[in-house]
Amino acid sequence: MANSERLELFNLEERARPVLKWAGGKSQLLSQLIPHFPGRFNRYIEPFLGAGAIYFSLNPQCPAIVNDANPELYELYLVLRDEPRQLTKLLDKYFKLYSEDFYYELRASRPRTPVSRAARFIFLNKTGFNGLYRLNSKGLFNVPFGKRKLCPLLYEPENLKKVSERLKKSQIKNLDFEKVIRMSKKGDFVYCDPPYSPLSRTASFNSYTASGFSHGEQIRLKNACQEAADRGAVVAISNSSAPLILDLYQDWNVHFIKARRSINSKSHLRGPIHEVLALP
Ligand SMILES: C[S@@+](CC[C@H](N)C(=O)[O-])C[C@H]1O[C@@H](n2cnc3c(N)ncnc32)[C@H](O)[C@@H]1O
Repeated sequence: MANSERLELFNLEERARPVLKWAGGKSQLLSQLIPHFPGRFNRYIEPFLGAGAIYFSLNPQCPAIVNDANPELYELYLVLRDEPRQLTKLLDKYFKLYSEDFYYELRASRPRTPVSRAARFIFLNKTGFNGLYRLNSKGLFNVPFGKRKLCPLLYEPENLKKVSERLKKSQIKNLDFEKVIRMSKKGDFVYCDPPYSPLSRTASFNSYTASGFSHGEQIRLKNACQEAADRGAVVAISNSSAPLILDLYQDWNVHFIKARRSINSKSHLRGPIHEVLALP
């Protein structure tokens, strides 16, 4: 099928964009990944949503199931779907209050409503150091202030409308990935962007949740996806090009994707690297 037909399904011109900065965000890689995706499918299923760059570029009419194990992220998406106006009111207020002191005050706070928790999440994500998401051993967000002089844009009104519309046509879940992959049927497309296998010990970015993501989890993911493919779903999995991953997917088709890693505190690790897209 021609590329143009794929791009319609993944509406690149009109697409909504992620509202968060997220490690492993796929915005830069869309044009390399989409040509490997199927031209038609019944439902789009993404078990590791993160900031959702690929999902938000999907035509809003296409039914979707999206999931992330991170409960704060899940709640943020519910708020973006159901209460976007209340959320933007609070973000406008935080924009005016921007300062280092306010950052740490908000970071230490435990808001009681979903809207105020969602606004806190976006504010800390946009104004904290490098858009990192990191929890300490008590499960508390502990990323330091990003030290920008001026407050960055916390949201774009038109984009937020598109994000909210896209989420309205989707089932949003907060489950372990395997349960979501098991929902897939013949004709569905399952795209997985799990926490990557580290290229080196120091390059690990696996603290998206309090639990981390071991190689055993990578094997469990491949097995669940192989079962989905055997049922007739189309499956694609992104990962790093770590030797353990190349070994794990040696019996699948592996495409190399040129990536640039920007969330890394060591500047020499920010250069171009290759990641993989594996399909059974
Ligand atoms: C690499 S990020 C996804 C990046 C995203 N696709 C993007 O474009 O920004 C991986 C995500 O997997 C989630 N995650 C980690 N363990 C999980 C699990 N067992 N089940 C489901 N999601 C999980 C993390 O919370 C994180 O948001």
